[in-house]
Amino acid sequence: MDNDSISVLLIEDNPVDIEIIKTMLKKAIDIDFILKCSNNLSDGLKSLIQNNIDVILLDLSLPDSDGIETFAKIKAHTPHIPVIVLTGHMDDKAIAMKALRAGAQDYLLKGQINKTMIVRSLRYAIERKRAEEFIHALTQKFIRLQENERSKIARKLHENVAQDLSSIRLFCENLFSDDIKNDKIKKVSSMLYNVIKNIREISYDLYPATLKELGLIPTIKIMCSDFSEKRNISTQIHTAGVENLKFSYEKEINIYRIIQEAFKNITTHSCATNVTLRIVGASPNIIFRIDDDGIGFKVTEELIDNLSEERTGLRNIEERVKMMGGKSRIKSTPHAGTNIYFEIPVK
Ligand SMILES: Nc1ncnc2c1ncn2[C@@H]1O[C@H](COP(=O)(O)OP(=O)(O)O)[C@@H](O)[C@H]1O
Ligand SMILES: [Mg+2]
Repeated sequence: MDNDSISVLLIEDNPVDIEIIKTMLKKAIDIDFILKCSNNLSDGLKSLIQNNIDVILLDLSLPDSDGIETFAKIKAHTPHIPVIVLTGHMDDKAIAMKALRAGAQDYLLKGQINKTMIVRSLRYAIERKRAEEFIHALTQKFIRLQENERSKIARKLHENVAQDLSSIRLFCENLFSDDIKNDKIKKVSSMLYNVIKNIREISYDLYPATLKELGLIPTIKIMCSDFSEKRNISTQIHTAGVENLKFSYEKEINIYRIIQEAFKNITTHSCATNVTLRIVGASPNIIFRIDDDGIGFKVTEELIDNLSEERTGLRNIEERVKMMGGKSRIKSTPHAGTNIYFEIPVK
């Protein structure tokens, strides 16, 4: 797209509707619309690869795809191009609203479109998508910076503070080994031992050193057994087809944080007695599912999209999954437990 032209892909099977839109876009003043048309979804997807498209006008009812699925397929294929949904009847409004919630930029009711409306909608869709992508990129940058800081602080705590305290403890024990006040020294030593243990735990919580030493799956297994032991919640882990999978550092830390966040929520909110974590390699993706048998909650979009500084756990989970190019689903029913599912590409 340059300042004077916008290239639009219209995916629509009705020749009359195509003609109406073509005519409206031709008449647009001070902007040149370069219009490509596809009559079905699979041609549309091909056209997206072959052409440099700025914005998509998408009819949801096509010969090879129908309803919200049509939008979902486009979004999975090209998540960065803004989509405006076209619907035929007032009855389709509910589906159009669904598409908006799933990330469409706008919807237009076919019988009611006019030139001004469509031109404005196309321009806004592009600008709004740009702003969204910018916020998304900033959030990702923020998460990366936060992880870097965490890992620096964790290393310093582990390598400097805990190490120095260990030396002091050893020194005290040696210095006063024959002292009659042996009991007091023992006490100091045991206090120091606890401080060192706490610091190591804080350090591990900030950044799990085992990620680099052992890899993701063994680290998750350690997290599960620690969680089970400390929280007294029976925790099972089942893995299949994950032994030889290799992840980037960024993916490892993101996956680890998501599970950590889910476990934190289980501890704080769920009153669960059983937790199951399933990890399945389903090439080219890997699937994670965390189930608890706790009190559950009512999942609302406000809860997940929440922008306040508190209650960022669920939003963080979604944001991290998006950052990895995956998809997530949080299901929960009051009194019937919670289920967090996410699927991400391994590469
Ligand atoms: N496993 C769970 N069991 C029960 N309720 C949960 C669970 N996970 C999340 N919730 C509910 O969702 C809300 C939002 O969670 P989250 O975004 O992590 O924020 P926070 O934990 O800071 O409250 C929680 O306050 C809680 O009511
Ligand atoms: Mg939380």
